[in-house]
Amino acid sequence: MTQTRKVAVIVGSLRKDSLNRKAAHALAGLAPDGVELEIVEIGDLPLYDEDVEAGGAPAPWERFRSQVKASDAVLFVTPEYNRSVPGALKNAIDVGSRPYGASVFAGKPAAVMSLSQGAVGGFGANHHLRQSLVFLDMPVLQQPEAYIGGAGAMFDDRGDLAAKDTEAFFQTFIDAFAAWIDRNVSREETSHG
Ligand code: FNR
Repeated sequence: MTQTRKVAVIVGSLRKDSLNRKAAHALAGLAPDGVELEIVEIGDLPLYDEDVEAGGAPAPWERFRSQVKASDAVLFVTPEYNRSVPGALKNAIDVGSRPYGASVFAGKPAAVMSLSQGAVGGFGANHHLRQSLVFLDMPVLQQPEAYIGGAGAMFDDRGDLAAKDTEAFFQTFIDAFAAWIDRNVSREETSHG
């Protein structure tokens, strides 16, 4: 029997009306049977500081780490800030990666969608993020790449995807990620007996 795969979704934008958050909700609605997406919040995480860690991790760090640890995979949905990832997202990555040797990201399958109102679709953010994911030892979905531009007009008043072709691409993306999770989680389970 195939077990349910839990996906932690990390949204790089903190704002209430975030287009990336809407995209994350759209992907959650399109996820195939047996794959559950849940947003793990990052807005309350204090800035990573090794001195603070040494004195005892703050509760939001512990909450974030345990939520990611309990997931089978991680999906990043992020805007681009100044051709890179928003600071809040980088901070969440730093928090989850420590203490040294206890990263909650290690080995978990990942995928990246970058989404921007601009034409370039957050390509810079997408690939800066991938650089960190290599170091975090996360197998990252390669295809389809997801650089979503022109996102300002992408959602209707209810926050749903307005165009069928966009929805079709989101479906292809989340289906490919589901298959990627299955392949890579199974490999983990096999290698660990
Ligand atoms: C941006 N934005 C932006 N867009 C882009 O395509 N490339 C970029 O480098 C930047 N840089 C940037 C820096 C900062 C500080 C802000 C606040 C914004 C625009 C940004 O991608 C756009 O506002 C998105 O809509 C933000 O995503 P959410 O909040 O809608 O999810």
